[in-house]
Amino acid sequence: MPSTRKVKSGGLLSGSRHCLVRAVSVDSLNVRIAEESEVCMGGGFWALDIKDMSWVEHTAEEVDFIEKVLALNSSERILDLACGFGRHSLELARRGYSVVGVDFTEAYVDDARRNAAKEGLAAEFILEDVLKLKFESEFDVVVNMADGAIGYFATEEENLQLFDVIARALKPGGKHLVGVCSAAYAIKHFPKRHWEAGSKRLSLADFRWNPKTSRMIYKGHLFKFGEPLPVFPDKFPDSGEELGTRLYSIEEIEQIMAGRGMKVVAAYGGYDCSTPASEDAFMQVVRSDKA
Ligand SMILES: C[S@@+](CC[C@H](N)C(=O)[O-])C[C@H]1O[C@@H](n2cnc3c(N)ncnc32)[C@H](O)[C@@H]1O
Repeated sequence: MPSTRKVKSGGLLSGSRHCLVRAVSVDSLNVRIAEESEVCMGGGFWALDIKDMSWVEHTAEEVDFIEKVLALNSSERILDLACGFGRHSLELARRGYSVVGVDFTEAYVDDARRNAAKEGLAAEFILEDVLKLKFESEFDVVVNMADGAIGYFATEEENLQLFDVIARALKPGGKHLVGVCSAAYAIKHFPKRHWEAGSKRLSLADFRWNPKTSRMIYKGHLFKFGEPLPVFPDKFPDSGEELGTRLYSIEEIEQIMAGRGMKVVAAYGGYDCSTPASEDAFMQVVRSDKA
């Protein structure tokens, strides 16, 4: 991993043998999970087997949603922050957008570049820590999908720096969309255990909330279809020392955006325009516009 900063692999993740999970929406049973009982806090291991995760199975629908709620017309230049293996970037490029995806996991960026080249797509992928980006007024749209590394950093300052990167990268009048877990949901519903069946794996996630740090902590187990069930401890992490993912309420996001010349204009409870963000929706998808 190029960055030496202590990051949490927030949600999800991954990995071939480690990591994480994260829920996207309880209603849609869309959860990311940690693998084989390992709890991933304060460090991260991201691997290409996230392609087997259930939460990557709805990319086309999520891109439909992006186009709809941001009223796009294929002419826009889009920055996809913490793009992973480029699933949204590639789909946006297929639809005619000029896209730049950024991620600090080499395997993801390599894979995204390979697929873009194979399909001849107008998508560029940059291997970099998102906090190091210096784009200024270059993009019509910035997206942070499936967290997009929002809340993954060890300090409040670093977490806020990512919002600086977003606001700076947008042109005046530019639009931002972020899909993250909801602090309001976590406060009301955690601790919580959640099962989800994807097409390749069954996952079990435990979520806990640290009210002092506003961070979500989770533990997960992955069960691959066709493989023997692993033995795993039925024990929720209790040290209280895990870093976790910093979650934000809509009010906090409004305040953070306002301090950066941006305004929240819509908040959904998932990739579905008919569901408003609420304390009963695990996922919140928030659109903000730059003045
Ligand atoms: C949950 S995944 C989401 C990936 C992608 N947006 C998607 O929806 O498939 C989070 C991603 O954040 C990336 N990431 C975490 N911290 C990062 C950082 N500081 N800079 C760049 N990428 C980061 C990880 O490599 C991983 O690909």
